[in-house]
Amino acid sequence: MAMKVALLGCGVVGAEVVRLIDEQSEELAARIGTPVEIGGIAVRRLGRTRGTGLDPELFTTDAASLVTRDDIDLVVEVIGGIEPARSLILAAIKAGKSVVTANKALLAEDGATIHDAAREAGVDVYYEAAVAGAIPLLRPLRDSLAGDRVRRVMGIVNGTTNFILDRMDSQGAGFAESLEEAQALGYAEADPTADVEGFDAAAKAAILARLAFHTRQVTAADVHREGITGVTAADIASAKAMGCVVKPLAICQLSEDGASVGVRVHPAMLPREHPLATVGGAYNAVFVEAESAGRLMFYGAGAGGAPTASAVLGDLVAVGRNRLASTSVGEGAHDTGLPVHPMGAT
Ligand code: HSE
Repeated sequence: MAMKVALLGCGVVGAEVVRLIDEQSEELAARIGTPVEIGGIAVRRLGRTRGTGLDPELFTTDAASLVTRDDIDLVVEVIGGIEPARSLILAAIKAGKSVVTANKALLAEDGATIHDAAREAGVDVYYEAAVAGAIPLLRPLRDSLAGDRVRRVMGIVNGTTNFILDRMDSQGAGFAESLEEAQALGYAEADPTADVEGFDAAAKAAILARLAFHTRQVTAADVHREGITGVTAADIASAKAMGCVVKPLAICQLSEDGASVGVRVHPAMLPREHPLATVGGAYNAVFVEAESAGRLMFYGAGAGGAPTASAVLGDLVAVGRNRLASTSVGEGAHDTGLPVHPMGAT
């Protein structure tokens, strides 16, 4: 029997998910062992659905009914933001549907509620697309490194701000024009304040810290946050004169005694020879330092419709395979309860 998908949102990422499910239908069916069908797409306004090439009957503005419909197996949420996404995801889980989401804001603020509900209902929640776009990073942290002790996670997790600072550095472009370009390319959030003021990176850093240090205590509110709006052309020029580049960094760190976790996001000067200094455009790169594994680097496209949709589809395949194998994964049942310590920029 086909796996029926309800899609919440059909913007830059949602439209790409729809396109890939159609274009790769045979591969997906082979990898999962059953065909994937789109059962419905919830959008805010029906008028904007023209031109997608899809049956107009698939579109609805009644997301609440769609997520609990009997024939739906999986809900893919790409609308973002806290509400109505949280209520819809919780309703879907309660109705026994697995969920794939790219919603970093929600997971960083209330991930525990979502994971608890999923555990209780015995369904899957996957969210690889929530952090660093196409880069496989969350499952490696949660699964592959689960037998190690991660000490630090550091990197560039917001493509828009990396794109802006890169344009300012390499082309002498202005802040506003670089932001407009990032928006036109589909990298920026609906409200770009989330990018340039560091809220997006803070949410992603909170998710990384939760997974890296197996603690449910970190939320976006615990992250020391500084955006890039204060970075001027003069700052970029002085960094350049010192052989440095300004990069938007996210740092999640275990304290020396391993008793607490600190998380911060802020622009920082890096020597040009530093591997993160060479990460240009909307690319992301993340270093993970673990006791036994040593230093690992994850690098790739961190924003944009196709890279994010790639991560969503990977999760979709995982849910499909689990349906057949009857296994379930979440944030991890074990909570170390590590508390958060304040972490200012240094
Ligand atoms: N606005 C985000 C970014 C999109 O620029 O990284 C991907 O999460």
